[in-house]
Amino acid sequence: YVVHEGCDHIFFVGFLGAGKSTLARNLGALFNRDFVDTDRMVERMAKKTVCQIFHEDGEARFRELEAQVLEGLAKRKSLLVSCGGGIVEGERSCELMHAMGTVVFLDGDVEDSLRQIQHPEIRPDFKDEACARRLYRARRPLYEQEADLRIDIRHKSFEQVTSEAGQLL
Ligand code: S3P
Repeated sequence: YVVHEGCDHIFFVGFLGAGKSTLARNLGALFNRDFVDTDRMVERMAKKTVCQIFHEDGEARFRELEAQVLEGLAKRKSLLVSCGGGIVEGERSCELMHAMGTVVFLDGDVEDSLRQIQHPEIRPDFKDEACARRLYRARRPLYEQEADLRIDIRHKSFEQVTSEAGQLL
């Protein structure tokens, strides 16, 4: 990888509903580091919601926008980045994350994820439970392959996960 000098972001990846944003936001507050969420940045860039982008422009376009958002982070320092659940599907996004910092896989239980997912209207990939499970099976190897570090979040309290992740900072 082409390493971006001075860039030491932490990228949280993992399945939808794994708690990436909550964890990154919480760690940001605890350790006084800036927190960003790629979904929100994509929405600001496109001036559309994630769901609109999926419906109107397609998933491939969404993955391009994710990569563009990541490119923009090269100028910033020590960010905690909560990534969209599918970011590992973007080859360019994976290259960028590795060039700019450490990729941490929040490895949760798909059942917990399913319980977390209560808003189908803002989760375009989750048409139904079977679809979510299929996606999880397909994604898991990608998370494992791309992760520099894995945090097992199963059967752990939010405080435990925060403290484990905090050791990385
Ligand atoms: C997606 C996950 C979502 C969001 C988009 C696509 C996916 O992110 O990027 O709906 O493909 O798994 P979160 O995991 O932050 O909800």
